Amino acid sequence: MSGDSAPAEIGMIWAQTHTGVIGDAGAMPWHLPEDLAHFKTTTRGAPVVMGRRTWESFPERYRPLPGRQNIVITSDQHAAEQIRERGGHPVASLDEGLELAAGFAPERIWVIGGGQVYSETVTRGIADLAVITVIQSSASGDTSAPTLTADWELTRRDPAVGTHQGANGLQYHFETHRRKPEMTETSRATATQPAGPNTSQAASQATSTNLTMLGLGGYLILPFLALFTVTLGFVLVLNDRILPGLAFLFVAQLWVAGGLWAHLKRRRLLQEIKEARGLAERPEAPGAGG
Ligand SMILES: NC(=O)c1ccc[n+]([C@@H]2O[C@H](COP(=O)([O-])OP(=O)(O)OC[C@H]3O[C@@H](n4cnc5c(N)ncnc54)[C@H](OP(=O)(O)O)[C@@H]3O)[C@@H](O)[C@H]2O)c1
Repeated sequence: MSGDSAPAEIGMIWAQTHTGVIGDAGAMPWHLPEDLAHFKTTTRGAPVVMGRRTWESFPERYRPLPGRQNIVITSDQHAAEQIRERGGHPVASLDEGLELAAGFAPERIWVIGGGQVYSETVTRGIADLAVITVIQSSASGDTSAPTLTADWELTRRDPAVGTHQGANGLQYHFETHRRKPEMTETSRATATQPAGPNTSQAASQATSTNLTMLGLGGYLILPFLALFTVTLGFVLVLNDRILPGLAFLFVAQLWVAGGLWAHLKRRRLLQEIKEARGLAERPEAPGAGG
């Protein structure tokens, strides 16, 4: 799309409630200045591609969004004329928009919504990056975020644990998701489980349950069973009941082996969490144009 150079990276950026709402009646059903600042910093200098309804959701004075080439998809000739008059670039399809954007900037293109355009971008596997602001808001709406399937993975969370608090009290955090480069075409086709913000929360709950179970088993239940069985084994041997005594001592070894396995498995899980946190805290490369 951009001549001889490497193709531009195509990212999506949106803000959603923790239940996946991104819009209502042509606007965002919350006010979070910190997210608007984050959007501005992230997309500054790069071309932005959007649907006609998202363009119309901006206040007049922000049409076009300053410091970015605004590319607007519409099939309506009258709307196209108005977009052009205001300094935007009307195009007839997402592909045409991306082609034009790649000509403006060879590095990164941002798809900035709305629901219809995100959905086409994800379904057709066009983007490899999604930057999401997840807001703890119970607002309802008529437009939803696209579902990221299991071929996407969470690569960064800010903050790593918990949330930021906006000046108006809203809690939120940022997530960066990338499509896994190693996924084969077959596994992409079968990857249907949602892997968005709600799934990552469920995964971390499952991890903490596993840690607890392994800790209980490895440090409490199995050592207790081993001690009990060894004692019983020795008591039997000392009372000349050699065979049953040896059998108990043998079983005790199995409990010890089980305890050791639980300890090693728990240690590995903790190491993985530590590595994932390290990844989460690593700063993201600055967005195009900074
Ligand atoms: N929370 C967020 O981060 C965020 C970000 C962006 C938007 N939003 C919200 O999302 C809502 C708007 O989303 P939406 O899904 O209603 O609309 P949208 O995706 O912004 O725009 C849809 C329009 O774009 C044009 N279009 C899209 N794909 C096309 C294609 N392949 N070919 C031709 N034209 C195409 C059509 O325009 P014509 O009808 O003119 O042909 C279509 O009606 C608003 O509430 C907005 O506030 C939220």
